[in-house]
Amino acid sequence: MILKKLSLINFRNYQKISISFNNTVNIFIGNNAQGKTNILESIYVLALTKSHRNVNDVHLIKYNGEYTKIEGKIKKNNLIDTLEIKITKTEKKVFKNKNNVKRISDYISNLNVILFTPDDLEIIKGSPSIRRNLLNIEISQISNQYITILNEYNKLLKNRNEYLKLLYVNHFSDKKYLDIITDQLIEKAIYIYKKRKNFIDDINKNISNIYRFITGIDGLYIRYINNCDIDIFDENKIREQMLKKYKNNYKKEILNGMTLYGPHRDDFEFLIGDENLKLFGSQGQQRLSIICFKLSEIDIFKEKNNTSPILLFDDIFSEIDKIKKNKLIKLINKDIQTIITATDLRGMSKNLIEKSSIFKVASGKIERR
Ligand SMILES: Nc1ncnc2c1ncn2[C@@H]1O[C@H](COP(=O)(O)OP(=O)(O)O)[C@@H](O)[C@H]1O
Ligand SMILES: [Mg+2]
Repeated sequence: MILKKLSLINFRNYQKISISFNNTVNIFIGNNAQGKTNILESIYVLALTKSHRNVNDVHLIKYNGEYTKIEGKIKKNNLIDTLEIKITKTEKKVFKNKNNVKRISDYISNLNVILFTPDDLEIIKGSPSIRRNLLNIEISQISNQYITILNEYNKLLKNRNEYLKLLYVNHFSDKKYLDIITDQLIEKAIYIYKKRKNFIDDINKNISNIYRFITGIDGLYIRYINNCDIDIFDENKIREQMLKKYKNNYKKEILNGMTLYGPHRDDFEFLIGDENLKLFGSQGQQRLSIICFKLSEIDIFKEKNNTSPILLFDDIFSEIDKIKKNKLIKLINKDIQTIITATDLRGMSKNLIEKSSIFKVASGKIERR
């Protein structure tokens, strides 16, 4: 898919702008704090209805503004859709072709993006919740149902935790209701496990090839970790396994007042051979493996959604040495729309610059170069 045009009103430091993109590479250059990341953020919000920066929606509204509006024209299979998101201080609404879309889960997947940011290093260095969050975001872009089921799971989880606390206060009486919620929780968990496992298996089809192409090193893969000892695709076996876990740890869960097993505790790790990159990888290795993880998603999007996603690179080219950068550019140059931010064009090849649209960003104003 292609983002043809983006219009912003009162978004961060932009009052009112419209940008027309080219179908291949678009580069935004400018000094720090001028609004480069804000552009990518607005596209991300248009796709996923939330910022990648982990902030409240109201922060997206320009200081002193009443609301913000992001509009994008998206071309997919020769059709153009208009997506729009409007955020006021009290509510958020999304529209597709001027029609209000009531459920976020029906909206996401209209615009597919893969974002690369300097903060991505946290995907390896940070806590498991960061990795689960990444899985959730990426899978929601290829499956509307995933968001729905994940929300249902989280509601059940909350109920179950509350009930576990209650059982503690009541000295473990009446376990019947707990069994009912547990059964319901397991059904949602099975779905989530399968989706995540599938996704990681798909990543593993590509990631080592991409990493080898860029670094010459073999054997990068992702290992999916769950705390219910599940490594099978058979629903009945997963159910059996989970029931066993809950049964064996019933007292422990009540003492803790929370559900200790299930996909809300999932994790994954980056390995080269037996080596865990979190423990042994250099920062450069870690950064590149995360980039390769995300590049591996391109094929997944193509297969599941029948269209290529839009790649958003926020200031990450500066961190990569020239040879690897050129290889990376070769990889992304295959008719995928790419939007890059950088402080300047240094280190970018002549060939790349020639075929790119270049925009200059300075304090909330954008000029085509
Ligand atoms: N809600 C907001 N209203 C107005 N300006 C904002 C808002 N949020 C952030 N900014 C401004 O945006 C600028 C940072 O933009 P950013 O895109 O992160 O810069 P960079 O070009 O370094 O990527 C800062 O000058 C900041 O003050
Ligand atoms: Mg920035």
